[in-house]
Amino acid sequence: MKTPRFLQIAQSDPAAIRAELLAGLSAPVATISPKYLYDALGSRLFAAITELEEYYPTRTEAAIFAAHAPEMAKTLGVVGTLVDLGAGNCEKAARLFSEFDVARYVAVDISVDYLRDSLHCLQRQHPQMDMLGVGLDFSTHIRLPDEVGTGPRTLFYPGSSIGNFTPADALGFLREAHAASLGGALLIGVDLVKPREVLELAYDDPLQVTAAFNRNLLRHLRRLTSADLRIEDWRHVALFNEQESRIEMHLEAVHAVTVRWPGGQRHFARGERLHTENSYKWRVDDFAALLRQAGFSELHHWSDELGWFAIFAAQARTR
Ligand code: AVI
Repeated sequence: MKTPRFLQIAQSDPAAIRAELLAGLSAPVATISPKYLYDALGSRLFAAITELEEYYPTRTEAAIFAAHAPEMAKTLGVVGTLVDLGAGNCEKAARLFSEFDVARYVAVDISVDYLRDSLHCLQRQHPQMDMLGVGLDFSTHIRLPDEVGTGPRTLFYPGSSIGNFTPADALGFLREAHAASLGGALLIGVDLVKPREVLELAYDDPLQVTAAFNRNLLRHLRRLTSADLRIEDWRHVALFNEQESRIEMHLEAVHAVTVRWPGGQRHFARGERLHTENSYKWRVDDFAALLRQAGFSELHHWSDELGWFAIFAAQARTR
């Protein structure tokens, strides 16, 4: 039996993270990157969100994979190296192993520690597969280490995380993915435009799991910056901005609050908001155009009956 290898690529230093966060908190429209939603508790709360009836993306995507995996495998051909971006517990990729022709599995997540248990477990089920866990923040650049190998790679980016990028940043990300695939392919999950009521319920569920996920950001920020943020001063807001085609998540001050940290402070009036996440909802044709603009070709996509979610396969090879 083979054993998985692990590699951590340098993480940003705490002083730089603190400076970035305090600049965001002090900005005229206070904004924090959604990646800070995912501390250990935030990751668990997100996992709980994916179990909610109201949060349709996870189950809809899973149903599309279940219905169309053989056809996807045929479209992609020999996968060779499968690079799973944001792998977490590696479950989504593992479900494809029986259909896809994978020789090497590379799981990438922000910290290699998130990957250890799942990769060891997966290796026992697939003793002959090469497995590599890479700790890497790929949100700005997809710089895969040499250990991934020199051949073409299929990049796997499920879960509609591409929606958490602005369209301009999504294009930048897809260009990086195109280069990082070394002439391989991309398999990506994309959440689509749908009625406002469905969207707003998915991001503001009655059990308030998403509210807890959003408000937990305050605890994380407090740890990273020493700012005296108090959960009870903020409420969760999720709304569909139709013009921008995105769900926005905010934390709204329930009364006037002055947030203080060593060396600074920021006053928030009652009702003022801290913008914590965008989740863009695409139309199939617009996303296909974005993929083409990023250099991909031979596009295919699969969707559910309601047209709520799509999985795209795209080739980076030049004929
Ligand atoms: C990770 N990402 C695709 C989720 C989304 O739907 O944008 C994050 C999330 N935010 C609130 N609920 C789920």
